[in-house]
Amino acid sequence: ITMNVEKYRPKFHFSPVEKWMNDPNGLVYFEGEYHLFYQYHPYGTEMGSMHWGHAVSMDLMTWEHLPIALAPDENGMIFSGSAVVDWNDTTGFFSENPGLVAIFTHHIHETQKQSQSIAYSKDSGRTWIKYEGNPVITSDKYKDFRDPKVFWHEETKRWVMVLACGQTICIYHSPNLIEWTFGSEFGEGIGSHDGVWECPDLFALPVDGDNTKRKWVLLVSIGNEPHIKEGSRTQYFTGHFDGRAFVPDEASQTIRWLDYGRDNYAGVCWSDIPEEDGRRIYVGWMSNWKYANKTPTEGWRGAMTIPRELTLESRNGEAVLIQRPLLELEKLRTPLVETEGEAVNELNLLLKNHQLETYEIVAEFEPVEGIDSFGFKLRTSELEETVAGYSVKDSAVFVDRTRSGVVDFHEQFAGKHQAVLPLNPKCLQLRLIVDRASVEVFANDGLAVITDLIYPSSSSLGLSFFCNGKNEIPYKVRIFKL
Ligand code: FRU
Repeated sequence: ITMNVEKYRPKFHFSPVEKWMNDPNGLVYFEGEYHLFYQYHPYGTEMGSMHWGHAVSMDLMTWEHLPIALAPDENGMIFSGSAVVDWNDTTGFFSENPGLVAIFTHHIHETQKQSQSIAYSKDSGRTWIKYEGNPVITSDKYKDFRDPKVFWHEETKRWVMVLACGQTICIYHSPNLIEWTFGSEFGEGIGSHDGVWECPDLFALPVDGDNTKRKWVLLVSIGNEPHIKEGSRTQYFTGHFDGRAFVPDEASQTIRWLDYGRDNYAGVCWSDIPEEDGRRIYVGWMSNWKYANKTPTEGWRGAMTIPRELTLESRNGEAVLIQRPLLELEKLRTPLVETEGEAVNELNLLLKNHQLETYEIVAEFEPVEGIDSFGFKLRTSELEETVAGYSVKDSAVFVDRTRSGVVDFHEQFAGKHQAVLPLNPKCLQLRLIVDRASVEVFANDGLAVITDLIYPSSSSLGLSFFCNGKNEIPYKVRIFKL
């Protein structure tokens, strides 16, 4: 049997050259490079002995693969964590030039014991020295005690760590990344407790671009539980943070999800993005623990979502988290179609000319009276289709991957996933990003997002538009090859 290693290999999403990958780790920008470390098992295509894999990019779209950064040691495997630039040598690790510090979880397989440790690099993340006093935080209280995300809190002039502890987030602070003081704990009686809490991130964002109106955002990923049909997913809270405690605002009493697809998990943001850029840049692991170990790729497994910019914007008097694919994605575009009109058959005549594997659709519709649902059928052939569209009846944008190709590797992979999105004004904007094994839907300019893996045959290259209830819908459609 020969392996078809490149089957389903994303064209423009990050994936490991070989073997297993999960969470993004140590996202940090330093001296012109965006670093992407990631949970990596170098000896298998399933989760196993976890290391930190490493890649760098200048534009967040194309990546250079580098050797493994962190390997297991006497304190355990290397689980998820973050990295920062220690600009002022608070650690004392760097005598001349500022360097990188990684803060991660050590996991002992035999005892399942977890603790937090640090390592530092004086050569832009190429080699790492583990701190001799590791671990720097231990716990007798929590079995699940992991995924430290650290940032510099300017107002209190100290480092802050958010850490997942069972089903809460513990917040610590430190002057030097070595000695940590417990500050507060957040999460009891609020949010979803469908599973263990993992991979938190905490950061401030201006509301509607106004820096005098900043709010803090807390991302919390929730582990898969067999009885929860959605599996792994990520919720977010908005609130206030004073350097010690996170106080949620009223809107956080309702559970809010980051993504309504099945495949965006453990996502966090880059640290140390230069002020002149100022963006909050996010990436997630594009899979779900429900079936992550079974997806039908050979020789490698796992990919990241497209990197996204996060903003906070007012919608109906509430600050909500908006996600947009990074502007850098547009550099990959080759224009193919640009059209506007009303007749569905005219649009389909245009689409019929194309055989499309990896592409982006940017479209706008006015769903007039009489329309039940509309949208695109992607990666189609006689037997396969992935449907991405809008249901007027449900007021929801959806992806249906029931017939998207290989779906039988797990009983809960096939399905239709939707995000409720009332149209006001009566206009729907859809942005679809299609790679060889994924579709990402950004509706109404990043207000509702669905990220789903798909495994279509390489020969399923058809694209069509449908509109149930009417033969006409006012549309503007642009398509780019990516
Ligand atoms: C999230 C997670 C983390 C953990 C890592 C192990 O997907 O379970 O909580 O650190 O994966 O690979």
